[in-house]
Amino acid sequence: MDGTFNENDISRIVEADRAHVWHHLSQHKQYETGDPRIIVEGKGMRVWDQHGKEHIDAVSGGVWTVNVGYGRESIANAVRDQLIKLNYFAGSAGSIPGSIFSEMLIDKMPGMSRVYYCNSGSEANEKGFKMVRQIAHKRYGGKKHKILFRDRDYHGTTIGCLSAGGQDERGAQYGPFTPGFVRVPHCLEYRSFEQEGAPVEGYGVWAANQIEKVILEEGADTVGGLCLEPVTAGGGVITPPDGYWERIREICDQYDILLHIDEVVCGLGRTGTWFGYQHYGIRPDMVTMAKGVASGYAAIACLVTTEEVFNMFKDDAADPMNYFRDISTFGGCTAGPAAAIENMKIIEREGLLENTLKMGAYMTDKLLELQDKYDVIGDVRSKGLFLGAELVTDRGSKAPVAEKLVQAVVGDCMQQGIVIGATNRSLPGKNNTLCFSPALIVKKDDIDQIIDAVDGAMGRVFA
Ligand SMILES: Cc1ncc(COP(=O)(O)O)c(C=O)c1O
Repeated sequence: MDGTFNENDISRIVEADRAHVWHHLSQHKQYETGDPRIIVEGKGMRVWDQHGKEHIDAVSGGVWTVNVGYGRESIANAVRDQLIKLNYFAGSAGSIPGSIFSEMLIDKMPGMSRVYYCNSGSEANEKGFKMVRQIAHKRYGGKKHKILFRDRDYHGTTIGCLSAGGQDERGAQYGPFTPGFVRVPHCLEYRSFEQEGAPVEGYGVWAANQIEKVILEEGADTVGGLCLEPVTAGGGVITPPDGYWERIREICDQYDILLHIDEVVCGLGRTGTWFGYQHYGIRPDMVTMAKGVASGYAAIACLVTTEEVFNMFKDDAADPMNYFRDISTFGGCTAGPAAAIENMKIIEREGLLENTLKMGAYMTDKLLELQDKYDVIGDVRSKGLFLGAELVTDRGSKAPVAEKLVQAVVGDCMQQGIVIGATNRSLPGKNNTLCFSPALIVKKDDIDQIIDAVDGAMGRVFA
């Protein structure tokens, strides 16, 4: 290759990719005999690959990201205009879009107050962990430093975030991990029979009380933070049981523990409210968000805190160490907040929260119809346009279907031009949940096509 590229020469693009690009989450042996997939274009709910094949994207860019859909010229224009005016300055200074977006965001988050910009979900979560640690040092002589995380939750890819990771296959082979992170039990009611002592009635409060049990075992004076997904995503689309979140808030208040809610997936509309936690009427101390903040039009993540948390970092200005001594180079890129402003305006202008609730209910009904048809669908879980179907070999034992069969359903749908997802290499023996998260613009007709494809795939794979 001579380095002169014509982007329309797709075979050359594929060869360069095969030769040099290391794909995420991919075993590359397959590309010695088959071509890597290149996604070339997107519009609305649809993407086209290198062969010009059209797909309906039922997972918003693969990982719950492109919430307002592809090809949004108004976002591209906002980013372009901002880049020409000022592309970057370090986050120790403010920027016009950073300032505007912070006010728009806080307006959607009653009780919250401060926005810290960075550029990935993992990074935002790391900032949250650092705040807990610094507060422990400032107020409790370093003792109240432990951070609790939950079985089956994921908070990111760095060693710090994997130390707070409840998905053992994500963490496998990357240890040793950072000390001071402690696992608490999951709250998946469908699998409560695997948890010793779980009641049939009142599971939500019981599941929250399991966290209190860990706090007491560790010593409440050693626990500074609790980090949870509002609805667990890659761990199997786990919607929280009734009473769970309310009890979690009580426990955090009782033991003076900061509640850090990881909204990296639910953030900005996915569940039909701006944030997942807003379904449960609770007040977080810290909220992290990334993917849906700008729908992937620019990299942006935010850690949002209460004024109370913020004040802990400015109460002693005479102490040169008494502020949040953290930086994120690309947290100063202005493209992120410029895209986020327009992304939020689109959600409002087009009534996408309402559409999410409406279409989420429709798609849930359609999945329940499939459950009536296929015994292998053991459980359907959903919140807005965040949906999962857990596959089991029989409904009595709830034994998980083998991951390769789950992947066969995903592969069959892909053949049909429908991109769906599944839990993968996350939970040993339990990567058995199909995942759906279409863009918030989805219409009934798109959902019908997605469900038809899954129906066909299930029929073939489980014939
Ligand atoms: C709940 C949750 N938190 C954090 C992350 C990490 O985000 P990022 O990949 O932007 O670092 C993810 C990514 O999938 C996630 O699902």
